[in-house]
Amino acid sequence: MTVATDNRPINIQPKLINQVALVTGGAGGLGAAICDALAAEGASVIVGFNQSAEVAHALANRLSSGLHSQHHRAMAVSVTDSAGLANLANDIDQHYGQLNMLVNCAGTTRFVAHSDLDGLDDALIDEILAVNVRGPFATARALRPLLVRCGAGLIVNISSIAAASAMGSNIMYCASKAALDNMTKSLARALAPAIRVVSVSPGLVDTEFVKSLDPKWREEQVMRTPLARLAVPAEVAQAVVATATHFRFSTGTVFAVDGGRGLA
Ligand SMILES: NC(=O)c1ccc[n+]([C@@H]2O[C@H](COP(=O)([O-])OP(=O)(O)OC[C@H]3O[C@@H](n4cnc5c(N)ncnc54)[C@H](OP(=O)(O)O)[C@@H]3O)[C@@H](O)[C@H]2O)c1
Repeated sequence: MTVATDNRPINIQPKLINQVALVTGGAGGLGAAICDALAAEGASVIVGFNQSAEVAHALANRLSSGLHSQHHRAMAVSVTDSAGLANLANDIDQHYGQLNMLVNCAGTTRFVAHSDLDGLDDALIDEILAVNVRGPFATARALRPLLVRCGAGLIVNISSIAAASAMGSNIMYCASKAALDNMTKSLARALAPAIRVVSVSPGLVDTEFVKSLDPKWREEQVMRTPLARLAVPAEVAQAVVATATHFRFSTGTVFAVDGGRGLA
């Protein structure tokens, strides 16, 4: 691996050439890093976006100026729109004729203190569960035929260590990620051997959003992390890539990328 002048990773021996990957939430802080890392491994990347069309198109264009002869594009993917997901499967089939990998990275949350039960109202609960739980399932359901057809499909669910620690932005966010990890196991069993399903489970990641939070709170999170820093998005992205390139006999597994935070 070497690095381009704009800090993009460039892999000179790419392992995902001729593969097509869809990243939902691909324009977000973590999603964009995952798109970058998959493209660096030679995959053609579909940058899935909900509201961030401009960012997603700019990212797909930037990826297209990379080293490998791939075909990147931005596509609208609302994970709460099941009819739209069926159309998406057709569009991917028409444009690419295949799909090898789905990264369920779209997610939503809002800070609500765990003691503030009234602050976690039904509308927010429904939104979190629709995006973080129903969304990955509905996306997997719609894209299953394409992933089966490629012969060795892979679904990576971006979870969180909040699933196990029950510490995170609000109680329902933690519960949604626990549900997602549980679903990873059920789907892994149900879809084997045609499709592998894994979770990649980060601790706090130093995205632009996290950088903008109260520095004192951020420092506290660092102090509670045995490796004494937060993850950078590229580290989580490399873990996602590794599930495709190296952990080829793993399914139903939750891979923590948390600097040992789960030990604290
Ligand atoms: N950052 C962290 O510290 C951290 C830690 C652990 C786990 N995670 C998980 O990592 C994932 C990405 O988080 P992030 O930090 O990158 O947050 P982010 O920048 O806010 O990205 C979230 C993405 O989800 C997309 N999204 C939201 N609702 C959607 C919907 N209905 N349909 C399709 N896409 C939708 C957004 O798309 P648009 O912008 O196009 O609307 C956005 O790109 C999430 O699942 C999150 O729970 C993050």
